[in-house]
Amino acid sequence: MNKERIVKVAVVGAGFVGSTTAYTLMVSGLVSEIVLIDINKEKALGEVMDMNHGMPFVRPVDMYNGDYKDCTGADIVILTAGANQKPGETRIDLVKKNTEIFKGIIEQILKYNTDCIILVVTNPVDILTYVTYKLSGFPKNRIIGSGTVLDTSRFRYLIGQKVDIDPRNVHAYIIGEHGDTEVPTWSLANIAGIPIDKYCQSLERCLDEAAREEIFQNVKNAAYHIIDKKGATYYAVALAVRRIVEAIVRNENSILTVSSLIEGHYGINNIALSLPSLVNRQGIINVLDVPISDKELMLLSKSAGALKEAAATLGF
Ligand code: 2OP
Repeated sequence: MNKERIVKVAVVGAGFVGSTTAYTLMVSGLVSEIVLIDINKEKALGEVMDMNHGMPFVRPVDMYNGDYKDCTGADIVILTAGANQKPGETRIDLVKKNTEIFKGIIEQILKYNTDCIILVVTNPVDILTYVTYKLSGFPKNRIIGSGTVLDTSRFRYLIGQKVDIDPRNVHAYIIGEHGDTEVPTWSLANIAGIPIDKYCQSLERCLDEAAREEIFQNVKNAAYHIIDKKGATYYAVALAVRRIVEAIVRNENSILTVSSLIEGHYGINNIALSLPSLVNRQGIINVLDVPISDKELMLLSKSAGALKEAAATLGF
């Protein structure tokens, strides 16, 4: 019998996102070892105990709380640590605080592991992906930000709801910043290869301009709405991380709107943001030049400009 490859993941941060990510990976069957690392060791221990008590119900996973030295041998190190948005705060508002936190985290990880893929989830995720790239010295393919994988999922779900189609059969991308300047690529949106406009002509509930704008605003502002209601978002982002981990671990060559260092796409250079990208065991092996409209290109350039401005304040 073939012995399955042991896949080890380290999750840094045992807050809502880190713990839910660890849980989602535990039930996924994709990984065999998960270490949860947090400065609050009691919190990490409590989360691990809680999850371990469900182990008889899933494929066995070696799940424990640990220290940075336990990043040794990890295939993927997932960064979720840092301050999170409070009601009324934007993701960019967190940039200084979380960059400082990341300086310490990256230094620690590098002591124990320079071969892993680092998957950045903490916000502002694009800036922190860029910061992690700069601080780590890793090749850009091994620094992945969760980016707009979640926004793309929200977009597909909301379009699916509107046109009554399984969201897995709705193909549409949100690109750019994971945040206020993100861009919906309506020009690429399709159902079974049928452009969304054409598909809608056959429906009563057509996606006119107002309906599109409503969908996009609900995607863009989803985190604000959820944070207002329950204080944090974590389930969908954990599922987005699970999907990225799956593409890596199973060497899938999947196309996901992850964030990475962009060099020479759409005139954008030296900043991280999300574009449809090919993901496999090596990380991000290609960023695709998808044929977006002139308006989308203009919005994407604006998004890159806003991110560059935020990064410039950090001196990188
Ligand atoms: C989200 O979009 C807060 O970035 C997080 O749910």
